[in-house]
Amino acid sequence: MQKNHHEKVEKSVGLLGVLTIVAISFGTLVQITPLMFMEETTQPIDGLKPYTALQMEGRDIFIREGCTNCHSQMVRPFRAEVERYGHYSVAGESVWEHPFLWGSKRTGPDLARVGQRYSDDWHYAHLMDPRSVVPQSNMPAYPWLDANLLDGKYTAKKLEIFRKFGVPYTDEDIAGAAEAVQGKTEMEALIAYLQSLGTALK
Ligand code: HEC
Repeated sequence: MQKNHHEKVEKSVGLLGVLTIVAISFGTLVQITPLMFMEETTQPIDGLKPYTALQMEGRDIFIREGCTNCHSQMVRPFRAEVERYGHYSVAGESVWEHPFLWGSKRTGPDLARVGQRYSDDWHYAHLMDPRSVVPQSNMPAYPWLDANLLDGKYTAKKLEIFRKFGVPYTDEDIAGAAEAVQGKTEMEALIAYLQSLGTALK
């Protein structure tokens, strides 16, 4: 009788485990590898701009304050989302994001396209006291952002690191980074960041 190889695999947990991992890894590679080489997922969209020094500081404040715990930055390609937030997010908008802040927790609305939707004054009032503009809001207030000044100590370094990741900052951008943020409040930086979100896609 011919030896039954399949039975051998079924009866050996170790062998079954190894072969299962091989099968799953192959499936994963088939899905992921092409994405690393496709223009659509690796090239910035036309009109994408690197964060200015001030926006870069604002982004770090967004991360530090845990805004990501309540806000995603990813409009999914579903009708309900597109009607509410605008055009769904595309990969080319995120190629210079390190790390991505797509998220999935939505206690508050998605912010991927919030840029230019409200005035700077609205954001200021909202971050100082969300209830002053949205009475039913349960978002926390962030009044200290208006009192904290940026010293710009690490701003140039941040831009430099992003440049290593392939973001096209010039030497002038990096040389002028600290000066561009010094004396500005954290509030101004955060609002500059928010106003840039999702505005590159036309
Ligand atoms: C505890 C959850 C929570 C946290 C943390 C939070 N938010 Fe919110 N946010 C909300 C909710 C809920 C709303 C909707 C009500 C409102 O507009 O205030 C909202 C609304 C917003 C809006 C208006 C969005 C729109 O399309 O109308 C912006 C902008 C915003 N948040 C920014 C921030 C920023 C910046 C931070 C961090 C400094 C932050 N949020 C932290 C819950 C949160």
